[in-house]
Amino acid sequence: MLDHTLYRKVTAAFRSRFQDSPSLVVRAPGRVNLIGEHTDYNDGFVLPVAVDRAAWLAVSPREDSWSTVRAIDMKNDEQSFPVDQVPSSDGGWADYPKGVVWAFLEQGLKPVGINAVLTSDVPVAAGMSSSAALEVAFAYAWDQLSDFGMSMPDLALLCQRAENQYVGVNCGIMDQMISACGKAGHAMMLDTRTLERAYFSMPEGIAIVVADSMVRRALTGSEYNVRRAQCEEAVAILQEHLSDVAALRDVTVEQLLQFEEMLPEVVYRRARHVVTENARVLEVSRALYEGHLAYVGELLIEGHRSLRDDYEVSIPELDTLVEAAVEVDGCYGARLTGAGFGGCIIALVDEGAVTDVEAHLGKVYEAKHGTAPTVYMTRPDNGVAKIA
Ligand code: GLA
Repeated sequence: MLDHTLYRKVTAAFRSRFQDSPSLVVRAPGRVNLIGEHTDYNDGFVLPVAVDRAAWLAVSPREDSWSTVRAIDMKNDEQSFPVDQVPSSDGGWADYPKGVVWAFLEQGLKPVGINAVLTSDVPVAAGMSSSAALEVAFAYAWDQLSDFGMSMPDLALLCQRAENQYVGVNCGIMDQMISACGKAGHAMMLDTRTLERAYFSMPEGIAIVVADSMVRRALTGSEYNVRRAQCEEAVAILQEHLSDVAALRDVTVEQLLQFEEMLPEVVYRRARHVVTENARVLEVSRALYEGHLAYVGELLIEGHRSLRDDYEVSIPELDTLVEAAVEVDGCYGARLTGAGFGGCIIALVDEGAVTDVEAHLGKVYEAKHGTAPTVYMTRPDNGVAKIA
């Protein structure tokens, strides 16, 4: 890790800006989600993977209660703000560290002042959790330097609060939990109600291919909130008949069918996605464990259809990529990953077929949409850690 390009880049930039070596370098990864989309705000299950793209933070503590943070990728934009009172938001990238400060203060913890330089190779707004990586990197660094000794799940919850209440994005807990708790070589099955985790090793010889449509999410915030509200509506109606339903997590496919007539048509379809998707997470986890890759692939494809038709968060570009990927021999399955409306798909592919998949995706996508997708292989990596 010490010879990683971004490690060298971020430490050199820190030295040149602050005339000293950083006392800590932290790496927090982005993620792809194998399956379990839009289930995390329904108390459901998810199966994400921390990836080999990450936010890197070089940081040192200061004597005063002030912090200066600089982002190499944002033309070295630099911001300074207090850490003993709530910093004011300006809507930019620094709202993530500022939100983390806000969340620590809310918990009665006073973080130390820091000097920090940040870089990241997680693509922004591509559905790979670049913002969670950033929050988790800062929260981890502050936790270390301030000796708070927080657990990883608590750190993830703190970051989610920062994003929900300070930044103003109503996300679930998946992205922060996988950035904090990911494990190299493994997918992490997370119960978002209890935060219990089980790790499933990725089979040998299988690659996760990411294809980025390069369509950047439009309207995600509002559409995301509309989906959340529709799920809540479904729960409110079902609760009139099923007293022990606290979230869609508690509803079975049979119960949903039984009460179909009570729900508005759209709300029924949204709920059907969530309920069937929860079941798919459990099935995929089991099939991964048992090495039934063909079945894993089928479930991924089914999951994509459900997101496209019932949850309506896909776009034609993502459908093209999924359809093209599964045409190639050696591809088990593919689906959009993340919130949708743009961003990336993932495909599970035999290592020997990766080049074919890349070539085919490029050809089909360009013919249909006139631009090239960015396609690359990614590996399950570790969650946040101190690198030096
Ligand atoms: C975004 C959110 C997550 C999750 C996914 C959809 O990535 O941040 O909490 O809801 O969308 O599965």
